[in-house]
Amino acid sequence: MSLYLFIKHLHIASVTLSLVLFLARWWLQGQGREWRRQAFWRLLPHINDSILLLAAITLVVLWGGLRVWMLSKIAALLLYILLGRQALRTQGRTSLFHGTAALCVFAFIVSVALTKNPGGILVSWT
Ligand code: HEM
Repeated sequence: MSLYLFIKHLHIASVTLSLVLFLARWWLQGQGREWRRQAFWRLLPHINDSILLLAAITLVVLWGGLRVWMLSKIAALLLYILLGRQALRTQGRTSLFHGTAALCVFAFIVSVALTKNPGGILVSWT
């Protein structure tokens, strides 16, 4: 396997784990559980997100620089982080709203990755 493919698979694996970890923490939050007290839930998402970003940066370098669709992914990633953080800090309808919005943004990022179009899924709808 080439270095590029290896890094791309690492990126996709950490993206998947990031989603699973978000869903698990969101569920625990909804149950009113004190998940922040456990080192596992505090540390693992940070370690995984660092791997995700490092792999993304390496892929950008191997592509020979940033493309517009990559900038779109970065902007959407920031929005995903903000919405996800809000979902994990609140309860009830506020948490439901922010968590659902975060999942929509996540789906948008995947669509940008697959189409290499900055508008991702939004473009195919118009
Ligand atoms: C939550 C955030 C992210 C998600 C869900 C995500 C998702 C994905 C997926 C599913 C692929 C595989 C696409 C394919 O097989 O065609 C991919 C590839 C890639 N991603 Fe990400 N990504 C994220 C963040 C980022 C960021 C911040 C960057 C930096 C610009 C980035 C850069 C890339 C690059 C360069 C590729 C390789 C494209 C290819 O060779 O097909 N990703 N990403």
